[in-house]
Amino acid sequence: MKALVQRKYTFRPVFFNSLHSQPSGPSQMKLKILVGSMTHTADHVAQAIQMECADLARPVEVEWMDGLDIHVFDAEKAADTLFLVCISTYGEGDVPDNAQMLFHSLDAQARFLGHVRYGVIALGDSMAHSQTYGFGGKRFDERLQDLGAQRLGDICFLDSSDGTLPEAKGAQWCRAWLKAVLEQVSAPGAAGSGS
Ligand SMILES: Cc1cc2nc3c(=O)[nH]c(=O)nc-3n(C[C@H](O)[C@H](O)[C@H](O)COP(=O)(O)O)c2cc1C
Repeated sequence: MKALVQRKYTFRPVFFNSLHSQPSGPSQMKLKILVGSMTHTADHVAQAIQMECADLARPVEVEWMDGLDIHVFDAEKAADTLFLVCISTYGEGDVPDNAQMLFHSLDAQARFLGHVRYGVIALGDSMAHSQTYGFGGKRFDERLQDLGAQRLGDICFLDSSDGTLPEAKGAQWCRAWLKAVLEQVSAPGAAGSGS
């Protein structure tokens, strides 16, 4: 499946101005946040994004990964949709329990996901788990890329040991990410831009 890996978009850096400055106008894109979590931190991040980014993507949906399989990425559901995988790490670098079924179905029901555009927020603890820091998000990302899905931008790592508030940091990152990504996907010639 490695041969299917698509060339990644280059990501233009965006400077963090004030959180709500320069709204880029209503977008036709939906943001679907898939939450993999054990103790709700990733869910709190997703909810903060839902509140802070409602002016950039419509709608912003938050869905726990429980019960999902690869069909969540079916082409008809992925049209005009950006996915954001917001996921923590457990065990020895594993995805959380509620993400196991979806994660394994990316192998068991593998299919080409070239129509999927996504970002990743990887939660972890770099002090307590330095060897497997953020591996839940990293492993999910690798699996999606193996299937041809296109990650937009770099992974956002949220470290529970760095003293920052994950909700604030995640929402700030997501605003910048969305602005950059929406510019890319709506640029003339971009796949799915309709131009
Ligand atoms: C039992 C246990 C195992 C963990 N293993 C890892 C790990 O391997 N790598 C990592 O980066 N973080 C690890 N963490 C840290 C969590 O991923 C981190 O605290 C995260 O913010 C929790 O998010 P959640 O509440 O959404 O599940 C572990 C935490 C616990 C309690």
